[in-house]
Amino acid sequence: MRAYEIVAGSNSLDGLRRCERPDPKPQPTQILVRIQAASLNYRDLLIARGHYMGGAVAANTVPLSDGVGEIVAMGASVTRFRIGERVAGTFFRGWNDGKPPSGPLTALGAPPADGVLAEFAVFDHQDAVAVPAHLSAAGAATLPCAAVTAWRSLIDIGRIAPGETVLVLGTGGVSVFALQFARLAGARVLVTSSSDAKLARAQALGADGCINYRTTPEWDIEVLKLTGGRGVDHVLDVGGAGTLGRSIGCVAVGGRVAMIGVLTGVGAAGSPYGLLGKQASLHGVYVGSRGHFDSMNAAIAAHRLEPVIDREFSFDDAPAAYRHLESGAHFGKVVICL
Ligand SMILES: NC(=O)c1ccc[n+]([C@@H]2O[C@H](COP(=O)([O-])OP(=O)(O)OC[C@H]3O[C@@H](n4cnc5c(N)ncnc54)[C@H](OP(=O)(O)O)[C@@H]3O)[C@@H](O)[C@H]2O)c1
Repeated sequence: MRAYEIVAGSNSLDGLRRCERPDPKPQPTQILVRIQAASLNYRDLLIARGHYMGGAVAANTVPLSDGVGEIVAMGASVTRFRIGERVAGTFFRGWNDGKPPSGPLTALGAPPADGVLAEFAVFDHQDAVAVPAHLSAAGAATLPCAAVTAWRSLIDIGRIAPGETVLVLGTGGVSVFALQFARLAGARVLVTSSSDAKLARAQALGADGCINYRTTPEWDIEVLKLTGGRGVDHVLDVGGAGTLGRSIGCVAVGGRVAMIGVLTGVGAAGSPYGLLGKQASLHGVYVGSRGHFDSMNAAIAAHRLEPVIDREFSFDDAPAAYRHLESGAHFGKVVICL
């Protein structure tokens, strides 16, 4: 089959290369999926650069966690699906429901689990979900990582209520889904971005307040101004070390900061003591379970929500898709269609 690999030891996007691999054969509990579309996450840049969880990949690995396709074959013990169904693999293997399992989790697209940037992928039937019928393959391919992370932060952990206020940082995959889900929940949403043009797009999606974090580096003060000094009930912090202090600074009394991303690195982030007086919480989020993915899909289907796709690339142009994500020019998701 046609595929791409991140080669062992890769430390830049040059480590992404085209390859041929044997067609995978499904084991008794596995489904064989002909991939129709895949999407990129910031994580995929980190993996190619050798900066993901413990460094460079030790073995050639098919990249990308997020892919959608049609089931074309299955093992004799598969009970959850039928041939022809359209499914996505879950980000993690073996986390069906409930609390995260203890011990290390295996995620698609990094060793030891090959990902989905290939003609075919095999998943255990427990590690896949049916995708909402109204979505194109490209739309459905945006869901497994960014959307589940935003959903879990706001709905499962955040218990968001109508009338609450949400702050999302930047306009990448996680943040644009968070904007859409927060609007569905009846919340007021504030968005930061480096670009006024992107803020105008966020406003068109329903953002109530927009702050350019380049021209207003003290964006936390602006958030307080926009909320009458109260702060926001939920912050989805995708920035990491360079943003967490300000996120804590503008969360409301009793609010929550979801600690999600590492866009500005993972070094010292300042003191978390601002949380104490406000009795606010800081919650680490690492994508979610199959159950979170299924609940989110039910809401997406009920509301016929459309993921925001910035640009679609062909399979042959996968390296250009990576470079586009790296440029930061995107708003929402970058997709590769097979
Ligand atoms: N913990 C988890 O489960 C989980 C899951 C998914 C992603 N993540 C992490 O979350 C982060 C975002 O992932 P993604 O896939 O959504 O990324 P993405 O689509 O590549 O989004 C990147 C965007 O973030 C914004 N940004 C960059 N630096 C920023 C800063 N200093 N302040 C505010 N916004 C900034 C930019 O938006 P503008 O162009 O609008 O400025 C940029 O376009 C990454 O660190 C990723 O590793 C974690």
